Amino acid sequence: MAKTYNIAVIPGDGTGPEVVAEGLKVLDAAAQRFGFTLAKTSFDFGGDRYLRTGETLPEGAVDDLRRFDAIYLGAIGHPDVKPGILEKGILLALRFALDQYINLRPVKLYPNVDTPLKDKGPEDIDFVVVRENTEGLYCGAGGFLKKGTPDEVAVQESINTRKGVERCLRYAFEYTRQRAKRNTLTLCGKTNVLTYAFDLWARAFQEIGERDYPDIKREYAHVDATCMWMVKNPEWFDVIVTDNMFGDIITDLGAMIQGGMGIAAGGNINPEGVSMFEPIGGSAPKYTGQGVINPLAAIAAGQMMLETLGEKEAAAKVEQGIVHTLSKLKSLSAGKMGYSTSEVGDMVATHVASS
Ligand code: IPM
Ligand code: MN
Repeated sequence: MAKTYNIAVIPGDGTGPEVVAEGLKVLDAAAQRFGFTLAKTSFDFGGDRYLRTGETLPEGAVDDLRRFDAIYLGAIGHPDVKPGILEKGILLALRFALDQYINLRPVKLYPNVDTPLKDKGPEDIDFVVVRENTEGLYCGAGGFLKKGTPDEVAVQESINTRKGVERCLRYAFEYTRQRAKRNTLTLCGKTNVLTYAFDLWARAFQEIGERDYPDIKREYAHVDATCMWMVKNPEWFDVIVTDNMFGDIITDLGAMIQGGMGIAAGGNINPEGVSMFEPIGGSAPKYTGQGVINPLAAIAAGQMMLETLGEKEAAAKVEQGIVHTLSKLKSLSAGKMGYSTSEVGDMVATHVASS
């Protein structure tokens, strides 16, 4: 009997539902072709639900989601909801509760895509960022003292546990080995200033690398220098591993050098549990409902989901469909593609179904 994967779909806010629809179109084409089934269950978590009910994630939501093979997410973020509420209440809450301790973000420039980097092409921009996804500054540790007074104090602490750092590093070493490209893992940190947090990272990096991954070359770059090299010599990178905050920042830079938010995808991965895949661009509310947003990032997130589910052939075919479609688009930006959102989805799906 054909294999069935149970997928939780969270279309979310703004243009999320539009890009998710195209992603599902492509995933269904891949399922049909490669002989598996996707059983989808939709969840309405997001800004509209919050405005209606006052709830971000309802009681029991996390336990419901735990039963799925993967989660496919559009975007979270609503113009009428104060910043932080939906991000913390839905996106970060799910990453934490499902212990998705890896945020995997490939930075890959495809042919026919413009990069703002002069004289760099697809052979130069092809690396992967492994971002720790459950600790660091994102834990919410800290607080106010004398809030609202002239003596106010705000403290926000970065939590780095040996266990959390170690499992992230091990994932990154394994990933580098399996990728088998340049067998080089770069730790991105700030050992010259954050002398506690990144001392732990650097020691663990060296110990684990020496003991268990002698075949992987270890490099180190401060986060500021990493930004510089990503622009000047991106070809130096193979896999980068870093903490939550630095990973957040450098992957937006990464998205820009790979052609923008129209193409950048990420996976929130719990290798032992349920993972969640998303385009990293956000809900783009001003384009909602116009059919102009680029769905390729969501489609690429679907590709990552197939890879993680073990459907490697189907994932490779979706990537081919993306590459094929990129050769037709005028631009990756919303409203400038030369095609509508659903036409772009159709092009990828047709390629997946029949080439
Ligand atoms: C991302 C986003 C989130 C983050 C926000 C929306 C909380 O920027 O996925 O990179 O900071 O992780
Ligand atoms: Mn971000």
